[in-house]
Amino acid sequence: MRTAQSLSTENMVFDTTLIPIAADRPGDDPIFRLNAEARARAAKGESILNATIGALLEDDGKLAILPSVSEAIANVDPRRAASYAPISGEPAFLQAVIDDTFGRSELASFSVAAATAGGTGALLHAITSFLEPGQSILVPEYYWGPYKTIASHTARKVETFSMFTEEGGFDLLSFEAGLKGQLEGQGRALIIFNFPCNNPTGYSLDDDEWRELSLIVERQAEKGPITFLVDLAYARFGAAGSERWVEHVEGLARCAQLLVAWSGSKAFAQYGARVGALIAVHPAPKERARLSAALGFACRGTWSNCNHQAMVAITELLLDPAKRRRVTAEREVLKRLLHERVDAFNQAARGTSLRYPRYEGGFFVSVFTPNAEVMAEKMRELGVFVIPLQGAVRVALCAIRSRDVPRLVVALEDGLAAAEESA
Ligand SMILES: Cc1ncc(COP(=O)(O)O)c(C=O)c1O
Repeated sequence: MRTAQSLSTENMVFDTTLIPIAADRPGDDPIFRLNAEARARAAKGESILNATIGALLEDDGKLAILPSVSEAIANVDPRRAASYAPISGEPAFLQAVIDDTFGRSELASFSVAAATAGGTGALLHAITSFLEPGQSILVPEYYWGPYKTIASHTARKVETFSMFTEEGGFDLLSFEAGLKGQLEGQGRALIIFNFPCNNPTGYSLDDDEWRELSLIVERQAEKGPITFLVDLAYARFGAAGSERWVEHVEGLARCAQLLVAWSGSKAFAQYGARVGALIAVHPAPKERARLSAALGFACRGTWSNCNHQAMVAITELLLDPAKRRRVTAEREVLKRLLHERVDAFNQAARGTSLRYPRYEGGFFVSVFTPNAEVMAEKMRELGVFVIPLQGAVRVALCAIRSRDVPRLVVALEDGLAAAEESA
């Protein structure tokens, strides 16, 4: 008879059976690691500015929420909340999200969608359904790190192009060269653009840049199939006029497969509810049916179905005019809070040594540096936490009170001086 033995390192006789590619994955997202360090120092009583995490905080440091959203979630019928959602999501949810995204644009009539676990799930579906294994997504050089994680996890890769010109505008020439290279090299392209309010730079394309970009896609689409994804994560926090991206992609949708990653995380201040959707636009009903089937299959093959309770609540908030007005009004308060911080930053940074892209809205801004690690380390010594990137540090203004912005800017300048000295 076998005697029961507790597990211990002495009696373990085998290494983990992880496949080689998974055996040495970095376990900790660097952003969450730095956030944890900042919080630990603050807990010991130090005065810390923690500009690491991408969540909008009130001036008292608490997570900003929209009461109407919390109420709607709490009011969902418990049995409905507990039941499975349809695999692709509730039809009413999908239509509400399509209408929320495209408004009166004709694109709404040519769209299908599937519910996803946040915008992240939408990105996963896009990467796995519109690129072959081994192929690369095309993104500007400053992009949200998890794009690479998703690509790597699904045996895809990331290719970048230079994002800014010397004058500080969007580098359209570099974008076109990158797109052309991809079509020639891999026979298709999946472009992921996180505008308005790019994470990490804060940059939003202006009307001229959108117009030029659409022309480039139209031109290059003659060479091969292009999928163009707009990641809307922070779009609700853009400056007035930034919503005109919809008009600009109308032309593009005639020659490229247009996708939109919609997310409730920031727009409804419900990061943990994991409500999102991938929208796909096509003029032909037959192609829409194929898109819809492919996305439903992708849902079944990953998470089966998404959080039903939050999906029902967000649907109601989008469809009921009075509730929608209330959410919009509550969101306006948060937008004002964020815009005060954006203004405070632009004002404090004016006339300093800091170089950063045009910043009019969104949760983040990035400050260019010759050595991001040295700069971020110097700033940590001063009790100010930012995220080092390649060539810049990311500053989460969404988590910094306006009155702390001058201290933040001084720390950025000191950090930059240290980085320049080390270069
Ligand atoms: C650029 C960008 N895209 C997408 C997401 C996805 O967020 P979620 O999955 O919470 O919708 C985030 C979240 O931080 C983001 O920064």
